[in-house]
Amino acid sequence: MKRLIIILLPLSISGLIQAATLDGKEVPIHHVSSDNCLECHQTIYKQWKGSMHAKSTALKDPIHGAIYRKMVGDPTKENVKVSGKYPVCLQCHSPNAALDQTTKLDAKPAYSEGINCVACHTMKRYKGLYGKDGKMQLGQSAYELSDSLQGPNGFLHEQGQGADKLRSHLDEEGELNPHLGRDNKGQPYLTDKEVQAVDLPMVANSTLKTSAACLGCHDKRKNSKGVALCETGDEYLEGKSRQNCQSCHMPISGGLADHSMGGGYSLAMLKRSVRLDLMSQKVGDRLTIDVMVENMQPHNVPTGAPFRNMYLKLTALSADGDVLWQNFQTHPAKEDPKAFFVYTMMDDANHPVPPPMASKVGKNTRLKPYETRVLIYNIPASGVDSVRAELYYNLLWPGMVKKMRRLPAALKAPKRFAWFEEKIR
Ligand code: HEC
Ligand code: HEC
Ligand code: HEC
Ligand code: HEC
Ligand code: HEC
Repeated sequence: MKRLIIILLPLSISGLIQAATLDGKEVPIHHVSSDNCLECHQTIYKQWKGSMHAKSTALKDPIHGAIYRKMVGDPTKENVKVSGKYPVCLQCHSPNAALDQTTKLDAKPAYSEGINCVACHTMKRYKGLYGKDGKMQLGQSAYELSDSLQGPNGFLHEQGQGADKLRSHLDEEGELNPHLGRDNKGQPYLTDKEVQAVDLPMVANSTLKTSAACLGCHDKRKNSKGVALCETGDEYLEGKSRQNCQSCHMPISGGLADHSMGGGYSLAMLKRSVRLDLMSQKVGDRLTIDVMVENMQPHNVPTGAPFRNMYLKLTALSADGDVLWQNFQTHPAKEDPKAFFVYTMMDDANHPVPPPMASKVGKNTRLKPYETRVLIYNIPASGVDSVRAELYYNLLWPGMVKKMRRLPAALKAPKRFAWFEEKIR
């Protein structure tokens, strides 16, 4: 009887809704851990588990963790406030916690998992980043949410009849399909003793086939002074791409949409981000080198968090491999600024400051969508046998690398992701 009443409740009072059934117990869908999907969706689970989406909270991402603890507070405490308000970070970094307005992220796996399966697969409609009052609604709050899972491919409710009912929940591989919904008595479909009652109702929704599935969190974010901290979505519109985010970030592998969703943390993803080429010409005792860097993306490279940056290292080598010339000794920031692709933030006195304090953008020399940048060098030709161009990616600004001493070294080390070498004729 109780179940029937709960099912008839309107959808809008989320949090009170008892939508899913696990181990015979009813729970709100946003409390369902990704571990409950693992058994049947092993490949996708593993891809997601290795992604930054699964590590998006202060408990799991060392960089976000360090900054969150400093700017916001302890992710294991309740009632943490920023200027008297619930921390906006969690709308994107731990959407299930944001729904419950809690800041104690270790209270439930569904919180500490960050952007987990149900966080994305309950997004029913993208409302856009601006509410009726003109105020920004970010992350989770940019979406109308559902208490049923959303099936991007157009989920079919193929139901059997009578005695065949239980059998009809078995798919071709013999796996149980818990997404079929309840029968007309309000009972979960799968009450098989071996599996326990599992009921994760699903409806068809093609929104997840579009960039709208990403833009609530990835479009843009500004600091309190209105300065853009990241704006992948705005960059994208400038590039006027017809491609959706999924076409690159969720390619089909092994017959399924890949959930690894790599970016700056993924060397493989970085390797396909640009085309690097060089041309050299000897004139007398000088060598002119044109280094060409082409952005293959409809968004900036680097994109996202303001501190992402990259630089070019150009070396001239002798036949024995000795370095005869290099475009910088310690770092190109001062020695060869054009080789530093960076976004910097400043205060009114033009001093570089951390993102929350910035009142303006310092410089933005990141590659624009599809831009080809040519860097020209003129160096002594004597003894030069070959020239080598290498691009290095950094998650953090050099200043942050120095300050954040406790971060694992791997997160601070420059990653070489593109290279090109040419013999001088
Ligand atoms: C960041 C958002 C996001 C997260 C997190 C996420 N998904 Fe998805 N998922 C999507 C999108 C978007 C698609 C549709 C991709 C397409 O078809 O272009 C999708 C597709 C799928 C599909 C259909 C795949 C296919 O190719 O037929 C399954 C199954 C699925 N997700 C399961 C899961 C499970 C299980 C988890 C957690 C382990 C998960 N998803 C986490 C966004 C997400
Ligand atoms: C008991 C097994 C089982 C569990 C547990 C399970 N699923 Fe599924 N799921 C299935 C089966 C079976 C299908 C249908 C597969 C197919 O036809 O490709 C499916 C399909 C899907 C699809 C694709 C729908 C579409 O339109 O393409 C998504 C998304 C999905 N599940 C998400 C989840 C999420 C999220 C969880 C955890 C909260 C979960 N599933 C837990 C068995 C399961
Ligand atoms: C609920 C908010 C949310 C949604 C929806 C979402 N993301 Fe994310 N995404 C994040 C957050 C937060 C991070 C950063 C996590 C971190 O580094 O701590 C992230 C990180 C990423 C990264 C960077 C990974 C790296 O290596 O640095 C990529 C790429 C990405 N998301 C792509 C997507 C795509 C594509 C979609 C849509 C299919 C999507 N995201 C949907 C919040 C979201
Ligand atoms: C043509 C392929 C392509 C498309 C389309 C694409 N991306 Fe990317 N994206 C990449 C590559 C390659 C990288 C790695 C290089 C970099 O970080 O700039 C990347 C990096 C990222 C990152 C990582 C930023 C970080 O801080 O590490 C995010 C976030 C991201 N993309 C979001 C999106 C979103 C959102 C969309 C859709 C609006 C999208 N991308 C569309 C190829 C693509
Ligand atoms: C609108 C959604 C949104 C909000 C709100 C948000 N972030 Fe993020 N954040 C992201 C996304 C998406 C990424 C990763 C992709 C990128 O770099 O753009 C990210 C990345 C980060 C990173 C880099 C993580 C890494 O691994 O390098 C830090 C640090 C960060 N956010 C801190 C915060 C803090 C602190 C707050 C709250 C004051 C916050 N964010 C609020 C969406 C958001």
